[in-house]
Amino acid sequence: MSKITAAITGVGGYVPEYVLTNQELEKLVETTDEWILSRTGIKERRILKGEGLGTSYMCEHAVRDLLAKTNTDPLDIDLIIVATVTPDFIFPSTANMVGDMVGCKNAFSYDVQAACSGFLYAMSNAVAYIESGKYKKIIVIGADKMSSIINYKDRSTCIIFGDGAGAVLVEPNTEGLGVIDSILKSDGSGYPHLNSKVGGSRYPMTAELVDSDERWAYQDGPVVFKFAVKNMADVSAEIMERNSLTGEDIAYLVPHQANKRIIDATANRMDVGSDKVLINIERYGNTTAATIPLVFWDFEKKFKKGDNVILAAFGGGFTWGSMYLKWAYDTK
Ligand code: UT7
Repeated sequence: MSKITAAITGVGGYVPEYVLTNQELEKLVETTDEWILSRTGIKERRILKGEGLGTSYMCEHAVRDLLAKTNTDPLDIDLIIVATVTPDFIFPSTANMVGDMVGCKNAFSYDVQAACSGFLYAMSNAVAYIESGKYKKIIVIGADKMSSIINYKDRSTCIIFGDGAGAVLVEPNTEGLGVIDSILKSDGSGYPHLNSKVGGSRYPMTAELVDSDERWAYQDGPVVFKFAVKNMADVSAEIMERNSLTGEDIAYLVPHQANKRIIDATANRMDVGSDKVLINIERYGNTTAATIPLVFWDFEKKFKKGDNVILAAFGGGFTWGSMYLKWAYDTK
């Protein structure tokens, strides 16, 4: 019997309608369109507005899109994994909410939290389940409503982040396509530089904290930038080396979309030309766990069956990693 690999067999996505432009941010904080574009590559991001709408709302839309495009019956789904740092609630999990919303009544579901690397971590879970032979259809979602934890008076974070959700279907493959290798890493000593620390068990929300700036996500941009550039590039080079791949062999690099300069540094290190680097940061900003599946969603038609694709991410924790996959289908 040929080896079972885990392959992405469809993609879905959702971004909210509201467009927050650099020009609008110029009115909220001391910044300029020129600064944001040249330092990050971002022109606009999407923001989820509406009373009572959380991350699950965006996941629901992304999954409905995925199920329709792949002609999949929700009752056939075995498992839903949501990667997010902005769950609807502390508990139950957002994945539990999504399963109920879309009618996946036979699936179990849970969330994974690895910040911007969350989609890679969640994918590696799905890969293990599929390779075990026990599970056949898994939905992996990367989704974040970053606007719910961003301080729109803090120019070091509000210019970067946006909201969105991307979803993929993962199924067994016996043609040697799908995920070939992955490397995941974490280092909790990076926590002081990128976090959202209020509202958990260490610092539960108090009336005083509600009114303070500490309740929002915090980032020491330049420190995170240095770690991101080094680690995303290192881990991408490592996965290429151990699979004997050169830049020529790579069809596409799908990087986490945090900052265009970090993406460029990673591509340079991998010796991959800019035509092979898929980027949508200018339209969505950094959607944390959603960036990689949203790139799949935007550029799905470009991928051809058998293409060598490298995914790479770096984020809060610190967490980082890379994944090497062979794309499993052609899109008409
Ligand atoms: O996704 C997960 C991980 N996150 C990341 O990977 C993000 C990593 N970090 C970054 O992308 C960048 O550090 C930022 C985009 C957040 C900031 O860019 P930077 O090039 O590192 O800027 P900086 O913080 O070093 O600031 C440079 C200058 C400073 O002015 P002086 O001291 O040189 O006069 C800042 O005060 O730019 C100023 N500045 C701004 N000016 C206009 C900082 N933020 C802004 C702003 N608009 N929004």
